[in-house]
Amino acid sequence: MAEPRPTVWVSQPLIEDVIAPLRARVDLRETTEVTVWTPQQLAAQLADVDAAIVTLNERIGAAQLADASRLQVIANVGVGYNNLDVAALSAAGILASNTPDVLTETTADLGFALLMAAARRITESERWLREGNWSQWSFQTMLGADLHGSTLGILGMGRIGQGIARRGALGFGMKVLYHNRSPLPASTEAELGAQYVDFDTLLARSDHLVLVLPYTPASHHIIDAAALAKMKPTATLVNIARGGIVDELALADALGRGRLAAAALDVYEGEPQVRPELLALRNVVLTPHIGSASLATRRAMVQLAVDNLLAGLGQQGSAASMPSPINAEAALAARVARAAGNDKKR
Ligand code: GLV
Repeated sequence: MAEPRPTVWVSQPLIEDVIAPLRARVDLRETTEVTVWTPQQLAAQLADVDAAIVTLNERIGAAQLADASRLQVIANVGVGYNNLDVAALSAAGILASNTPDVLTETTADLGFALLMAAARRITESERWLREGNWSQWSFQTMLGADLHGSTLGILGMGRIGQGIARRGALGFGMKVLYHNRSPLPASTEAELGAQYVDFDTLLARSDHLVLVLPYTPASHHIIDAAALAKMKPTATLVNIARGGIVDELALADALGRGRLAAAALDVYEGEPQVRPELLALRNVVLTPHIGSASLATRRAMVQLAVDNLLAGLGQQGSAASMPSPINAEAALAARVARAAGNDKKR
């Protein structure tokens, strides 16, 4: 008898022609409208499928897995996966994957675009022009900060951080300082023209500071009032990582008091909500989490999620050949332990 086709849930409309070939291999349960899923709805969707493709907006923890006895794979479309409770997935023997690498350069581009926009007051200038203020132009209108020749600080020197360092050093002649869990190999530092410094030195010396570190309990509000107070009042802060890394009220306060010159945020602690304190400020550029949002990159992300899903289901290679697994070892070990436990019970 032929094996039954796996059922796969896709949590949001993604890129239709990248998803379409899946229909030949699995029973697809698609979502045709952008949907805000409640925790209970997520649990219900996961309860009777073999695999799911989800986005960063779907938060999946033990409660969402409680009835998901068939679930084998969660393919997350995004490099960050703080929306997934990896320990709970592993314990349940569910393989999880993310989409690194394919979005590195696109996200570094956006980081740089935000840096330029904040430092040179691009969105503020445009708003001022549209509001009909040009007749009041003076020699001092919209004075900003230079990028060329300045010091670029990078907090979190993974793939995206390195992409930003390369742009800053090679494209704009910036001096690059960085802080990371561990320093890069000397050859990579030399290639990027980047120098490792401690966190306080990074805060104190950066003219422009870009946050590109993963969001973990250790990085929650790492940029708080105390950290902001250590930065130059002329500095620019850019966050393209996760909103929870920055204490947004402290940031709004620092920007409002002129304690920090400008900021640009692509991510927010309560997204899609943006704090009114930030919305009220002119010296902060705000974008709606679009770091990886080029068409080519979004296609590549969905394709990578599909490839992970098919490998995880054993339909294209095996779990061991998932291109970008998050928890393969732990999840497969949990499956083995569970099978051994079931054998004993028999
Ligand atoms: C976007 O924030 C991602 O993690 O892919």
